[in-house]
Amino acid sequence: MLGAVQFGVLAACIVLFVPMGMAGWHLSRNKMLFFSGALFITLAVGVHLTPYFPSISDLVSFSSSAVVVENRDSCISFLHEIVWDVKPVRVSESLRNSSNYEESWSWAKSKPVIACGFQKLGRSDVSDLLNGSWIVVAGDSQARLIVLSLLSLVLDLGEMESIRGELFKRHSDYRAVIDEIGVKLDFIWAPYTRNLTKLVMEFKRNRRYPDVLIMGSGLWHMLHVTNASDYGVSLRSLRRSVVSLLPVSPELGNDGPVTGSISIRSPHMFWLGIPTLINSMLNTEEKRVKMNSAMQDAYDGELYESKLLRQSGGPLMLLDIGSLSRICGAWCTVDGMHYDGAVYEAAIHILLNALLIESQQQI
Ligand SMILES: *[C@@H]1O[C@H](CO)[C@@H](O)[C@H](O)[C@H]1NC(C)=O
Ligand SMILES: *[C@@H]1O[C@H](CO)[C@@H](O)[C@H](O)[C@H]1NC(C)=O
Ligand SMILES: *[C@@H]1O[C@H](CO)[C@@H](O)[C@H](O)[C@H]1NC(C)=O
Ligand SMILES: *[C@@H]1O[C@H](CO)[C@@H](O)[C@H](O)[C@H]1NC(C)=O
Repeated sequence: MLGAVQFGVLAACIVLFVPMGMAGWHLSRNKMLFFSGALFITLAVGVHLTPYFPSISDLVSFSSSAVVVENRDSCISFLHEIVWDVKPVRVSESLRNSSNYEESWSWAKSKPVIACGFQKLGRSDVSDLLNGSWIVVAGDSQARLIVLSLLSLVLDLGEMESIRGELFKRHSDYRAVIDEIGVKLDFIWAPYTRNLTKLVMEFKRNRRYPDVLIMGSGLWHMLHVTNASDYGVSLRSLRRSVVSLLPVSPELGNDGPVTGSISIRSPHMFWLGIPTLINSMLNTEEKRVKMNSAMQDAYDGELYESKLLRQSGGPLMLLDIGSLSRICGAWCTVDGMHYDGAVYEAAIHILLNALLIESQQQI
C-alpha cells in the first residue's frame, strides 16, 4: 500500500507527465489543459480522501497503467461487434440507388462493448480527430465506397453531391482537400495487390507517409486471375514492403507536425476486407462462376496465411467488411458485391474509434 507522501509524489508526476505525454501524441493545447485540469482535480480529491479510505490507494495503484493498456488492446478486438436493424422502405421514398431496405447499425449491448464506450462520432469530433492529417485510401470500388462514407461524415449534402460525380469516374484517382479542417484525402485506384505494393514503395522512396493508410484488394484478382495462391504471393510481397516502411521516424515523416490528434510517429494502417459475395445476386455469369464460395474461402485463407493482418501478427488492422456485410445480409446489397452505405459507414466508425484508442484519447 502506498503511503500518503509517495502517493502525493506519484500524483504530482501524473499531473505533470501524462498531459506532456499526450502533447507528444499531438493533442491540441486546449485539450492538454483540460486533461491537466481534470487530472489535477481528480487526484487532489483522491489525495484528500485517501487517509479516510485506506482501500482507495489499492484501487488507485490497481487501476493505473496496466488496466488501461489491457483495455486498449481488448477494446480493439470488440470493435466489430455490431448489430443491424433492417427495415423495408418503399421505393418512392428511397433517395439512394440501393436496395429497398434501410439499415441502421449500433454496437452490440454486450458488457465488454459497453465498457469500451465506443461512439459514433459527429462532424465536429471527426474534424477534431482528423484535423491536419493526410489520409490515403487505395484499392478498388470498395475503397471508393469507404471514401464516400468518410467524406459524408465531414461534408454537407451539397458538397457531397458535387464530389460524387468526380469520385465515381471509372478507374481514376481522386483527391479532396477539405480546407476547413486541413485534411487531404487521396483515393488511389489500385485494383490489384501489386498496385498497392507499388504505392507503398513510392511512399518509401519519397519519404512522405500518410497519417492514415487504408488499403484493400482481392475482387479484381478473383475475377480476372482466379488463382488464390497467386493472390497469396502478392499479399506476402505487400506485407514485406509495408514492414520495410516501419517504424517511421518523425524526421522522415511529413513536412511538419499535424495539428490534429493523430500521431505521425507511424502511419495508422488498415486493410479493407473483401465483402461477403452473394453468388446468386452477382450480375454476370462470369462472376457467378469464378467468384464462388470455395474461391472466396481460398482467398480469405491466403489473406490469413500471408500474415498481413494484425490478428496473424502483421502490420495492418482489418476493417472486416466481410463480417459487416454478412451480418447485414442480402437486404443490404443490390448486386451481391457492393453494399449499401451503412456497411461502409460502420467500417468508418470502427476505424475512427480505433484511431481514438490508438491515440489513447477520449473526445
Ligand atoms: C442505379 O444503378 C443502376 C446500375 O448500377 C443504374 O443502371 C441506374 O441508372 C441507377 N439508378 C439511379 C436512379 O441512379
Ligand atoms: C484545426 O487545427 C488548427 C490549428 O490547431 C485550428 O486553428 C483549427 O481551428 C482546427 N480546426 C478544427 C475544425 O478543429
Ligand atoms: C495495377 O497492376 C496491374 C498488374 O500488375 C497493371 O497491369 C495495372 O496497370 C496497374 N494499374 C494501376 C492503376 O497502377
Ligand atoms: C497460380 O499462381 C501460382 C503462383 O503465382 C503459380 O505458380 C501457378 O502456376 C498458378 N496456377 C495457375 C493454374 O495458373
